[in-house]
Amino acid sequence: MTSLDIDRLGRRAEAMLDELAAISEEPDRLTRRFLTPEHKRAAHLVAQWMAEAGMATAEDALGTVRGHYAMAGEEAGANAVPRLLIGSHIDTVINAGKYDGMLGVVCGILAVEHFRDLGRQMPFAIDVLAFGDEEGVRFPTVLSSSAAVAGQFEPSWLEGKDRDGVSLRDAMQAYGLDTAGIPAAAISRDEALAYVEVHIEQGPVLEHADVPLGVVTSIAGQFRTRVTITGMAGHAGTVPMGLRQDALLAASEMMLAAEAIAKAHPEASMVATVGQIAVKPGAINVIPDRVEFVLDLRAAADAPRHKALDQFLRKAEALAGARGCAVAFETYHDCPTAACAPWLQDQLAAGAASLGFSPPRLVSGAGHDGQAMVGMTDFAMLFVRCERGISHNPLESATVPDMGAAVATLIRFIEGFRPPARP
Ligand code: GLV
Ligand code: MN
Ligand code: MN
Repeated sequence: MTSLDIDRLGRRAEAMLDELAAISEEPDRLTRRFLTPEHKRAAHLVAQWMAEAGMATAEDALGTVRGHYAMAGEEAGANAVPRLLIGSHIDTVINAGKYDGMLGVVCGILAVEHFRDLGRQMPFAIDVLAFGDEEGVRFPTVLSSSAAVAGQFEPSWLEGKDRDGVSLRDAMQAYGLDTAGIPAAAISRDEALAYVEVHIEQGPVLEHADVPLGVVTSIAGQFRTRVTITGMAGHAGTVPMGLRQDALLAASEMMLAAEAIAKAHPEASMVATVGQIAVKPGAINVIPDRVEFVLDLRAAADAPRHKALDQFLRKAEALAGARGCAVAFETYHDCPTAACAPWLQDQLAAGAASLGFSPPRLVSGAGHDGQAMVGMTDFAMLFVRCERGISHNPLESATVPDMGAAVATLIRFIEGFRPPARP
């Protein structure tokens, strides 16, 4: 076993993340949404790094960049090659930090580069995947790129539109992608040995425990429900308060109701968020007649999450009715809690232990591409401590030694990787 320079690996990761962070739709902050020209530029950079690290590169129908590091003895063009999948995403939220997603892609590339430098190939291939639709901030889809790799892409998603009325289908075409190629993006269950992802924790647990790394046991389930309230527009100066059908006031009460419902379920780590709202007609002196918001509701267990959504829908109908408004719901994302495979968790923990780390096990409240991959192959995640648990914020930060520890753990994990025998 060669020794690993953890500090050097961490510095490499930091430099690559800085380069990626410079690719943004906005000049003064990091925003890189799915299928934008900036997504494409980031994808090209990642493909270049993959090639430099010894991988054959390709882009699939959803724009996922795929680097393939051949297994020992693999013949060019061979199909049905057993492969370990390592990935994360290169899309970001609006005004993002530079670690969420990108760290996992960079760790995968640096791990492969390590083996290439040693001239070492494994008895399995390694595919590094850079997904583009993990955040789901542009279209009414979430995880569509990893779903395509898992063979779970729903054709109806193509008609979903962004805020400018551009459909996913049209955006794919503008990006240079061919929807006819979506079925071919799927990796077969026989080839996929496992999916592993490194990601910043995005919460404070590891920092509180004073440890750099953690192993994820499961990812919380999630709903995204679009709520549309219709009231009656009117003059802000003339309609008495008791005679209004104000869609925004109804929406406000619904959001507070969602907060109360989530707070009533701390045992399920339930959280409810409204981070996007559109108010029409949007004039200072007009009573709002149409409001659209998306409720993001998550919990560590599926039964209380479903119960909570039902409770919210009933409450929202009552609140709308009391104000003379109508309300409609569309739940476009219902992702069950996804469990990480115990055997993979153990192998990740063993990789970390070989370097002297003792990673605790923890649940992920944030969503990840593993939730889409779980239908196709076993998955596990390695979390990296981040400062004050801050994420989805430019203040997001992870240290060079912690990132180096993550790359080194990934390397040791790959060296010791033993998939269970299949029946
Ligand atoms: C992605 O980061 C999500 O959890 O929404
Ligand atoms: Mn992420
Ligand atoms: Mn994120």
